[in-house]
Amino acid sequence: MAETTITVDGKVLSRVYAGASVIDAAQYLMPYPEVFIVCDANVADYAARVEEGLSHAGNFKGTLLIRATEETKTMDTVLKICEFLLSGGASRKAMVFAIGGGITTDMAGFAASIYKRGCKFAFLPTTLLSQVDAGIGGKTGVNYESLKNMIGIIRQPEFTYECPEVLETLSYRDFVSGTAELLKTFIIDNGAGLYGRAVKVLSKISNSSDKAFAIRENREDLIQMIAASAAVKAGVVSRDQFENGERRKLNLGHTFAHAIEHEARLKKVDIAHGEAVSMGMVLAAKLSEKVGIAELGLESMIRENLRVCGLPVECPFPLESLAAAMKLDKKAEAGGRIHFVLIAGIGNVVMKDMTVEEVEALLK
Ligand code: GLY
Repeated sequence: MAETTITVDGKVLSRVYAGASVIDAAQYLMPYPEVFIVCDANVADYAARVEEGLSHAGNFKGTLLIRATEETKTMDTVLKICEFLLSGGASRKAMVFAIGGGITTDMAGFAASIYKRGCKFAFLPTTLLSQVDAGIGGKTGVNYESLKNMIGIIRQPEFTYECPEVLETLSYRDFVSGTAELLKTFIIDNGAGLYGRAVKVLSKISNSSDKAFAIRENREDLIQMIAASAAVKAGVVSRDQFENGERRKLNLGHTFAHAIEHEARLKKVDIAHGEAVSMGMVLAAKLSEKVGIAELGLESMIRENLRVCGLPVECPFPLESLAAAMKLDKKAEAGGRIHFVLIAGIGNVVMKDMTVEEVEALLK
């Protein structure tokens, strides 16, 4: 069984396991004396399978099903999770096992981090997006009003259990949305030429008339790419857990993406996170050209690559409204400078601190 670790100063803080099936996740929960499951109500069946796997362990204490949407990603839901733990008699030795996409794992991880000043937690991410990004690295938290992930903490899960079985029941839209984070990771680190390989495999799936069949047919390639992407992210987080430097690279496309999502919420346009990241990476590529960090042609290449993989590449909102939203970005430093991640080439990204006004002028 493949295993990647997040290791800081020689200490393993978190492990990423590549498992075969949902039920097998239970074996990793055996050592914990109290297991509380928090599961997205849409995938309640996975919780039932883990409960079944734990049936002889005697440590399973209960399951809470939650509604996991950007609107319910709030302190209210986090408090409900804390109340569930409290009413179930959870001690500080409790393990909160979150099953779901990034919204579920972010909320359950945050609740576990504040319950009795912090108990243990682990994740079974059920979307591609959370397998390659949100489920690894320990960023947890909630939205505040229309501001995404404004309240939270970086605290590592005991482990993240990644299992290909869950991809088979994902909607194609959710699958494609997740591929944006996969491609983002390989734009940041193209070791072993994974970016080109990913574009090839994902465009093949996108062109197929039977997408579910194509995903199954390319399962092995997908598993390897997910594991490679998890390893890249685990490496970055090991070197810069609290995002003081290198980890900022993982935000490639995200400053734009968060602004796009902010506008989408206000205007009630349905844009998934990965879709916004795809549009955001195109804008980041354009900015890289304008700044002179990338050669002309990079933007059109990335735009075309994302498009053939089935991702949207055109931001539907005017630059002015994105600029206003970007000023709210929690990553803005004093003086209004934001760490923009620019693309010098595939596998080579660099950070540049810029004001929103500078970015707006360059992109006009
Ligand atoms: N999603 C970016 C990070 O985890 O740092």
